[in-house]
Amino acid sequence: MFELSHRITFSAAHSLHSDALSEAENRALYGPCFNLHGHNYELEVTLRGPVDPRTGMVMDLNVLSRVIDELVFRDVDHRNLDSDVSWLDGCITTAENVVAAVWERLAGQLDGQLHRLRLYESAVNFVDYYGPDGGSR
Ligand code: NI
Repeated sequence: MFELSHRITFSAAHSLHSDALSEAENRALYGPCFNLHGHNYELEVTLRGPVDPRTGMVMDLNVLSRVIDELVFRDVDHRNLDSDVSWLDGCITTAENVVAAVWERLAGQLDGQLHRLRLYESAVNFVDYYGPDGGSR
């Protein structure tokens, strides 16, 4: 069994705010993250599967790269995640929520091989996501 990964970097802006909270509560909860700011994000997409003996590959990395570019990178790079990305509409753009939305977009295109998404918001802060079923594969 193999794990195969592709990484992209993108720059995007966001602010953290919950419509369920008052402005004062938002400021208290999110602190400086309530203000509009940016991140240089890194997204790692990891597939898990056997090598196909016909090809010698788990998946063609060029195909994986193209899927991620078309479904994620083009929508988020140099954008405001709160206002510019239709598939993040109405979501609090924490790393957790962003990575879950990315999973929804990618899972159907990757033949059930999607294993883990890792999203770095900074060099020291990142989140791992194993899908709504939580790492059952
Ligand atoms: Ni932030």
